[in-house]
Amino acid sequence: MRRFSSLPTASSLGPRKEMLFEVTRFPQFCEATARRLGSWNYFLQGEKHRTLIVGEPRLAQAILTKKDADWSDRIIAPVLRRLSKDLLGLDDAPGLIFANGPRRWAVPRAAAVAGLWRTEFIEQSVAVVKEVAAETMRELFARRQAVDVDDVFQRAALEVVGRLAFGSRLGALSDERTKMMFELLTELAILQGTLSLGGVIDEIKYARLLIVARELLALVEPLAAARKGRGGPPACFLDMLLATSRDNDIGDDECVWNAVSILLAGNDTTGHTLSFASLALASRPTLQADVRAQIGDFGPDAPLLGAVLKETFRLFPAAAFFHRVSKATFKFAEYDELPAGTRCSISPWILGRNEDCWGPDVDEFDPKRFLDDDEDDEAKPSNRAGTAHPYAYLPFGHGARSCPGARLALQEAKILLAAFLSDFHLDLAPGQSAEPDPVFAITLSNRGGVRLRLTPVVVA
Ligand code: HEM
Repeated sequence: MRRFSSLPTASSLGPRKEMLFEVTRFPQFCEATARRLGSWNYFLQGEKHRTLIVGEPRLAQAILTKKDADWSDRIIAPVLRRLSKDLLGLDDAPGLIFANGPRRWAVPRAAAVAGLWRTEFIEQSVAVVKEVAAETMRELFARRQAVDVDDVFQRAALEVVGRLAFGSRLGALSDERTKMMFELLTELAILQGTLSLGGVIDEIKYARLLIVARELLALVEPLAAARKGRGGPPACFLDMLLATSRDNDIGDDECVWNAVSILLAGNDTTGHTLSFASLALASRPTLQADVRAQIGDFGPDAPLLGAVLKETFRLFPAAAFFHRVSKATFKFAEYDELPAGTRCSISPWILGRNEDCWGPDVDEFDPKRFLDDDEDDEAKPSNRAGTAHPYAYLPFGHGARSCPGARLALQEAKILLAAFLSDFHLDLAPGQSAEPDPVFAITLSNRGGVRLRLTPVVVA
């Protein structure tokens, strides 16, 4: 029998200070460690907890398809519990993404999933994304010089999720107040990420985190006030959360914080994905021209455009890790039992770069691997519908805690990128490297943004 306990263990990243520096390269660090240890799965010995790093699809599948209740908990950092107490007076961690348990997580999650997959919501979201895409392109036409598209796409994505979450315009593309919201969300994510590491909470950073979280709540308060006590069918996320929560004795403040979680989950993820895709296209003029030509025929449904996004998700997954804690003992294949309470980090980054799954060209940006017409090429495992194993490709996770916004995000990314490529030729701005430089702070982004020179496409 093979034993989980015989999986290799990588020792700690080192003293906390170095770890905070190293964390921006955490996906690369974990991938290099897997190669060094000769095992895609291994334990990482943190300061306090051993964590199982998962980079092999069979193990990811076994965890994610196990009876949901066994692996539905997230790892909750002490800083989140403290934030919850100070911000909302709750003993549990707040927010749809970080909460656990039936009331804090399962009830709002059910409301979010039901809402996001409703036909009317999907139609409403397409209309919202198209409007935001048109506004974004107008802004870009007005600017015309080198532009950091990462900033532009994050604000566009914030505007989309903001309108869907609160049912009213945020003005994230132009309005100063909402630009502030964008900056606060970014700071909140970074502070939360750094403070979640290690055992001792840095008091100065924590004080700042609390201020940022309170300022965010104050910014959304007027939007939330307009929804509370409103009659009629739910027209946005917050309406849905408020409606479900009343029957479950969940307070309005917690609902508002859950709506803020949607803003957190849906702005930089989509924004960074679009900027990595734009960087790939700006540095590959032939591919860019091919995608643009297909958009002319198929619009946002162009197969090559979809494949570019899928390849971007494979190599630059905005959520490079997602986490689970086992609630029961876990048995996998020929291994011995894994005890309850095991912390586990499944890594779309490592899975996407696992050459046993994707073949020797694993590091190449090649969207064609996702095109159906390559499916018959048995010589390359990566060409079987994109992957040799379906669980080698998990940009939106899977199972009980999978991303409820996956469908929206994909649709949104296609519409925004199609509009962008139809309106502009993309070139690298002076000083912008063609080589991506991924850094990790909760989500994965390109260091320093992505600066492109945009030239309007002239329609003959
Ligand atoms: C490119 C864009 C996005 C990517 C790559 C992404 C990826 C992910 C991943 C990997 C997870 C964790 C999955 C798991 O643990 O199995 C997640 C969770 C989540 N995502 Fe997304 N996401 C994106 C956009 C969005 C959008 C637009 C929304 C909202 C409209 C959203 C809402 C959420 C929420 C609420 C969770 C927490 C779910 C839970 O814990 O039950 N995401 N996302």
